[in-house]
Amino acid sequence: MTNAPLGKFVVVLVLSLGILSTVMLLSAPEGDGIQPPKIGPGFDASQIKGPNECVECHKHSGSVWEKTPHATTITDMPRSEEGRDIAKKMGIRRIKSESLCLDCHSTAVPKEGKLKPISGVSCESCHGASEPWLKRHGEFSGKKEGEESAEEIASRWAECESAGMLRAGMILEIARNCVSCHVVPDEKLVNVGGHSSGSDFELVSWSQGVIRHNNWYSKGTENKIASKERQRVLYVVGTLVELETTLRCLATASTSARYAKKNARRVDHLRKRLAAIAAATPVNSVVAANEAVTSLRLVLSNRKEISSAADAVQAASEKFVDEHDGVGLEALDPLIPPPEDFRGGEPGQA
Ligand code: HEC
Ligand code: HEC
Ligand code: HEC
Ligand code: HEC
Repeated sequence: MTNAPLGKFVVVLVLSLGILSTVMLLSAPEGDGIQPPKIGPGFDASQIKGPNECVECHKHSGSVWEKTPHATTITDMPRSEEGRDIAKKMGIRRIKSESLCLDCHSTAVPKEGKLKPISGVSCESCHGASEPWLKRHGEFSGKKEGEESAEEIASRWAECESAGMLRAGMILEIARNCVSCHVVPDEKLVNVGGHSSGSDFELVSWSQGVIRHNNWYSKGTENKIASKERQRVLYVVGTLVELETTLRCLATASTSARYAKKNARRVDHLRKRLAAIAAATPVNSVVAANEAVTSLRLVLSNRKEISSAADAVQAASEKFVDEHDGVGLEALDPLIPPPEDFRGGEPGQA
């Protein structure tokens, strides 16, 4: 859906320039058809409203968010020595006009045919571009709060979800969204630019620390840590999605330089974590994912098998969220990072 406008653009370009065959060649999948993961959330920038719109009503979410590295990255990063160094090596003149950087370090909107940052990584980079669902999600179906029927509430949320809203219950989509930025699927950016290949990520500890803003339904009176059951699902799904994505990075690496090495090391680290999960909780989806990666050889000549393993891990993540809500999986609790390891510490609040 989000690719539709680009697709149309390419078609128009092809027809108007009459270079159909060249463009087809360029956009055809490389060699064996294995594709790298997407870079950043990929929401439709023309449907972004910006965080000021959200904070009108969600002031408690805003007061946490504005103190996070997500909010500050678009002002701090381009000024940093490291940022300027990466840009120089990549031949980029202005970081704030470069869509590659904006994809992961900002929420951006189109202005005069170019992408412009509207803020750091803000609400809609995680909850979805809001134009199609903004009005509907908070309007209580035209009634007063508390007066909608159960059916009206259910259809309001169903409409918002199909219009692209990412809600707290959608753990698989949340994990995919975080990982689309926290794994860096761009070989040149890592090998030539010297950018990190991604974060030392883990979904429980990275979602429950400094960025936690579960303070809406409590009207700002408390900012609750996710329940034990939710943490178990976050832990397993976060591991599977990150493993799938790093496998796809590895499968599309073209040379055994830093990008390939970092991703191979990360796959190895994640498959050890997965083996521990499978040993503690031998549910069938996790066991299947574990079997797909246990003896996988992490070398570039093995890209077909690495890519198939990524498919198996993806299927396992989808099956796991269908079958499990975390109840009965207490054997995982000793593996899950404790609150003192939550990334960035306690959330700030205005
Ligand atoms: C006019 C006020 C208003 C604005 C503006 C607004 N929201 Fe909301 N939002 C609400 C209300 C009201 C609810 C709770 C609805 C309910 O209780 O059923 C809500 C709930 C939510 C939820 C929780 C959904 C869930 O799963 O329970 C999220 C996430 C959210 N809003 C995100 C946003 C984002 C992102 C923006 C900006 C693009 C935004 N909101 C702008 C009023 C608003
Ligand atoms: C796929 C997403 C992605 C892309 C594309 C990307 N970054 Fe990053 N960048 C990240 C993440 C995630 C981190 C944090 C890494 C960590 O946790 O160690 C980061 C960290 C950084 C840092 C170090 C921390 C900081 O904020 O100062 C710099 C500098 C940086 N990026 C610059 C750039 C520049 C310049 C570009 C464009 C050429 C770019 N990045 C493109 C995701 C990305
Ligand atoms: C880095 C991604 C990210 C950003 C940025 C972000 N959110 Fe969220 N938000 C989430 C996740 C994930 C949850 C689900 C809770 C969890 O997993 O801890 C959530 C939950 C919520 C909820 C429900 C909270 C509750 O009390 O249950 C609301 C409302 C919300 N976000 C609004 C916003 C608004 C408004 C902004 C911008 C000011 C924002 N979010 C920025 C990821 C994000
Ligand atoms: C649009 C890209 C993007 C998305 C989506 C995103 N992040 Fe980030 N995140 C970043 C970048 C870039 C940084 C580094 C900012 C910096 O240091 O300049 C970062 C930093 C963080 C930090 C701070 C790390 C530290 O060093 O203290 C946490 C925690 C975090 N992200 C968690 C999450 C979680 C959890 C999700 C999903 C719910 C998420 N992020 C989604 C881009 C993103």
